[in-house]
Amino acid sequence: MNKISIAIDGYSACGKSTLAKALAHDLGYTYIDTGAMYRAVTLFALRNNWLSETGVEADKLIAALADLTIDFEINTVENKQNTRLNGSVVEKEIRSLEIANWVSKVASIAAVRRHLVAMQQAMAKAGGVVMDGRDIGTVVMPNAQLKLFMTASPEVRAQRRFLEMQAKGESASLEEILENQRQRDYTDTHRETDPLRQAEDAIVLDNSNLTQAEQLGFVLKRVKELLN
Ligand code: CDP
Repeated sequence: MNKISIAIDGYSACGKSTLAKALAHDLGYTYIDTGAMYRAVTLFALRNNWLSETGVEADKLIAALADLTIDFEINTVENKQNTRLNGSVVEKEIRSLEIANWVSKVASIAAVRRHLVAMQQAMAKAGGVVMDGRDIGTVVMPNAQLKLFMTASPEVRAQRRFLEMQAKGESASLEEILENQRQRDYTDTHRETDPLRQAEDAIVLDNSNLTQAEQLGFVLKRVKELLN
């Protein structure tokens, strides 16, 4: 086996993308941030005024999906990846608390999921990918050779996201972040289509008390075992 596919699922802000990026970097694989894709669709709906107190104007959003382009611009100098919506970089906009407060509602729409899952499966076709999200090991890549289900305590997760947003100059209090996390985790685990759940063959990784290096070392060891 030359290259494997790695699926990472878990609750909001539990370090999936940090681990996924590090793995992709060390293995020379492609990192696919599926959460960024749901966030980009949410930004598109917001810009079109299809999100309001009465909910999401799903019909209009679904009709527009076919013409929507979402891809990633690779910045090799900074080892970073920028999400693009219809050709424009939207990396900063999609990380705001406003988008975080809407994204799980948009991600509950079955037609939105079908559309993005098909895109993600096309991106993963060649193998050698690390993909993170909520339904990767269960729906998008059920045959992935390595599946991880990540978790950490709500307080640890909120604190990490708080520092991350502060570093990016985004204003959100710890309480707002905790509340957003609580609501998203509830919606993500209770929606009808492809809810977040642990795949039967996933390895559970609680990283509340693990450093990033310890976590990466543990997973790289599993990858090497699989490649031998
Ligand atoms: O970074 P964080 O863990 O906070 O979230 P994210 O991975 O950027 O995902 C944002 C939201 O998109 C999640 O809360 C889900 O509602 C949705 N999502 C999903 O439904 N399915 C995926 N495969 C990825 C994200």
